[in-house]
Amino acid sequence: MLSDNIQAALNKQINEELESAYAYLQMAAEGDRLGLPGFANWFRLQYGEELAHADRFFNYILERNGEVKLDAIAKPDIADETPLSLFEKALAHEKHISRCIFALKDLAKSESDHATDVFLEWFVTEQVEEEAAAQAVIDQLRLVEGSPNGLFMIDRELAARQPETA
Ligand SMILES: [Fe+2]
Ligand SMILES: [Fe+2]
Repeated sequence: MLSDNIQAALNKQINEELESAYAYLQMAAEGDRLGLPGFANWFRLQYGEELAHADRFFNYILERNGEVKLDAIAKPDIADETPLSLFEKALAHEKHISRCIFALKDLAKSESDHATDVFLEWFVTEQVEEEAAAQAVIDQLRLVEGSPNGLFMIDRELAARQPETA
């Protein structure tokens, strides 16, 4: 059985993941608006991954006989972005999510909820990848310094991203 504290924190994380999905969906639209289909593709796939993260928390709460309580999803703060600002916002957001996961893990440890602690391990690893992926694109964008040719090539690379099969 989940404690009230942990159940509330897990429900909060469903909301965080859905807000992430919502932000990435808006970023996909921004990519399209900027004429960068690769960016749009990358953020659209990221949107799907965040939905899958929300699903993991949803399933876990039910598996532990807990109660899912969905909350309102905030409007994404994404408008009039540049290619660089999109990925800077993505990185800042992923850092925020990492902090949420670490706080959740601290809570699970403090209550000796070993099952939740182990469940969260996957997310700790995932967040390292999420931050690294956004950082890698920021590095590339800084390298080309807004050169249209460079941007075109980065867009081609982001267009090649495929949905994960796992
Ligand atoms: Fe996530
Ligand atoms: Fe993420």
